[in-house]
Amino acid sequence: MNSQTSPQGVAESRDPGMRLRIKQLKVRFQAGAKQIHAVNGVDLSLGAGKTLALIGESGSGKSVTLRSILRLHPPRSTLIEGSIRVGEQEVLELGPAALANFRGAVASMIFQEPLLALDPVYSVGEQIVETMTRHGLCSTAEAWKKAIDLFERVRIPSPERRVHAYPHEMSGGMRQRAMIALALSCNPSLLLADEPTTALDATVQIQILLLLRELQAAMNLSIIFVTHDIGAAVEVADEIAVMYAGRIVEQGSAKQLMRSPKHPYTYALLMSRAHGSLKKGERLPAIGGSPPDLSRLPKGCAFAERCERARDACLESQPEIEEHQGQSVRCFFPIEKHVPTEKLLQQSYSSPGTSSQTMHHAPLSH
Ligand SMILES: Nc1ncnc2c1ncn2[C@@H]1O[C@H](COP(=O)(O)OP(=O)(O)OP(=O)(O)O)[C@@H](O)[C@H]1O
Ligand code: SF4
Ligand SMILES: [Mg+2]
Repeated sequence: MNSQTSPQGVAESRDPGMRLRIKQLKVRFQAGAKQIHAVNGVDLSLGAGKTLALIGESGSGKSVTLRSILRLHPPRSTLIEGSIRVGEQEVLELGPAALANFRGAVASMIFQEPLLALDPVYSVGEQIVETMTRHGLCSTAEAWKKAIDLFERVRIPSPERRVHAYPHEMSGGMRQRAMIALALSCNPSLLLADEPTTALDATVQIQILLLLRELQAAMNLSIIFVTHDIGAAVEVADEIAVMYAGRIVEQGSAKQLMRSPKHPYTYALLMSRAHGSLKKGERLPAIGGSPPDLSRLPKGCAFAERCERARDACLESQPEIEEHQGQSVRCFFPIEKHVPTEKLLQQSYSSPGTSSQTMHHAPLSH
């Protein structure tokens, strides 16, 4: 990897451990006469070798945040402000050539649907080789060897043969592994995973989560993992950030946040889960009411209409994010007392394979 496509060494020496810093990210889309305020001042940072899970209801801005890191939004209809630093690079200032170098080699993305990332008319091996040679990482012959190594690494059986398979010749789980191999082919330091397991059945989901965790440790990857599955978030993440209406409303260590949510929205999410209204892999959840219209956000707290703790002050102005007992919380009246969500979650989480122990013994299926 050349120095341009591998800034992490430089970045880590200047800012030890910090791979990603997002500051005051705002993303708006022009949709006809309306302006959709999809992301409204997100701050996030992620250390080397760490995983952050981003959770929240549909439309809360998780994918828009992730896609901003690779600048994947349509430029003509998108207004984007703030700062996204990956290593030493300011992503929002990259020109076309630097952006092409950045994508794949510094940060890359895996999706819920591998067919979005894989080209149906080329074998997966050809796509990996093309990506590596386009980035100038090695010769074609070396790239083929590396493609086979990568297939081995993501546990695709008979890699020498399978590397020549087309995406449609693979099962869903194997295609997901092939997409991970492609995403990792240029040795990125940051992997963005947008609901990578949602479309898979439960056993395969667990295998893919395990694989991501293994790869993270082996490659010192930093991962942002978007999920609707709180159980999956706890399994893979060091930190959890909860999004609502384009803002992060709570962030903290995965264990602590599960044990003691401070924001009423996080609490409602966990309780709806704890009361068994969802099964593993289902989408989030039954909280009364609906999120606000992103083209007409209220001046006060966006959760106020649905919040049992709301008071007059909540309607007047926007709560800022503040530290409460080691968690960052955006709420005027955070929950102080400990609530036994963790116990309730454990009880409701009946699927075998969601504890670390069972995950390690999950059989591989293809
Ligand atoms: N290119 C776009 N143009 C207009 N609106 C968009 C565009 N992309 C996203 N949006 C809107 O931005 C909001 C946030 O979308 P986003 O995809 O980030 O939600 P999400 O949290 O990922 O939801 P889900 O869990 O359903 O994937 C939504 O209202 C969506 O319709
Ligand atoms: S600021 Fe008020 S309305 Fe918003 S979550 Fe906190 S208590 Fe509820
Ligand atoms: Mg999404």
